[in-house]
Amino acid sequence: MDFISPELARYAEAHTAAESELLKKINRDTHAHVLKPRMLSGQLQGRFLAMISRMIQPKFILEIGTYTGYSALCLAEGLQANGKLITVDINEELKNRVTSYFNASDFGDQIDFRIGDARKIIPSLEMSFDLVFIDADKENYATYFDLVIDRVRPGGFILADNVLWSGKVVQPKPDKDTKAILDFNDKIHNDPRVENILLPIRDGIMMMRKI
Ligand SMILES: C[S@@+](CC[C@H](N)C(=O)[O-])C[C@H]1O[C@@H](n2cnc3c(N)ncnc32)[C@H](O)[C@@H]1O
Repeated sequence: MDFISPELARYAEAHTAAESELLKKINRDTHAHVLKPRMLSGQLQGRFLAMISRMIQPKFILEIGTYTGYSALCLAEGLQANGKLITVDINEELKNRVTSYFNASDFGDQIDFRIGDARKIIPSLEMSFDLVFIDADKENYATYFDLVIDRVRPGGFILADNVLWSGKVVQPKPDKDTKAILDFNDKIHNDPRVENILLPIRDGIMMMRKI
C-alpha cells in the first residue's frame, strides 16, 4: 500500500538528493536478480537514513537485516573516520553479492558484515551503539529492541523500519506479522527509556532516542 499518491512520491523523490552510482546499481541489480526487491530501502528512505547518520556522526552503528546492503551503505555515510558499522543477516545466499558491493564502496574497511541469526550475534558484540537500525523479521522486533536497548548510549538512536506494515496496523483481524508490529509499536510507545516518533516515511519508521 502506498501512503501518498504516486505523483507526490515521484515529486518527493525528484526533490531529494540522488543515489550514488553504486547505490543505483545495487537498486537495479536487486530488482533484476534478487527475491523480494521491495525490501530494499530505496532512494528516498536511503537518503533519509544517510541524513540521520550524518546528523548523529556515529562511531558505532548496528544494522539488523542487511539484505543487499543498500541501507548499510546509506547509514555508513555518516560514520566517523574511525567508526564501524556492523550489519547482520541470516541469509547466507546473498553473502558474495553483498560483500562485493561493500568492497566497491568507500566503506569496505568500516563495515563488518556478519552472517547469522541476529538474536545470537547481538549478545556477542562488545561495543555500545550510537545508532541501531532494526529491519529484519518482524516477529522479532521486540526481541531486537530488548537486546539492544542497554547497548545504546544515552542520547543514541534506534530506528525500526516497516512499522506501518503496508497500512495493516489499522486494519481489523491482524495476521501474525501485523500483530508483532502492533505489539512492538505499543511497547516502544510505553517504554520510558525512549522518546519516540512514528514517521510515516515509506512503510513507516519508528525513531527512538534513548533517554
Ligand atoms: C527488509 S530486509 C532488509 C533490507 C535492508 N535493510 C535495506 O533496507 O536495504 C530484511 C532482512 O532481514 C533478514 N533476517 C530475517 N531474519 C533474520 C534474523 N533472525 N537475523 C538476521 N537477519 C534476519 C532477511 O534475511 C532479510 O535480508
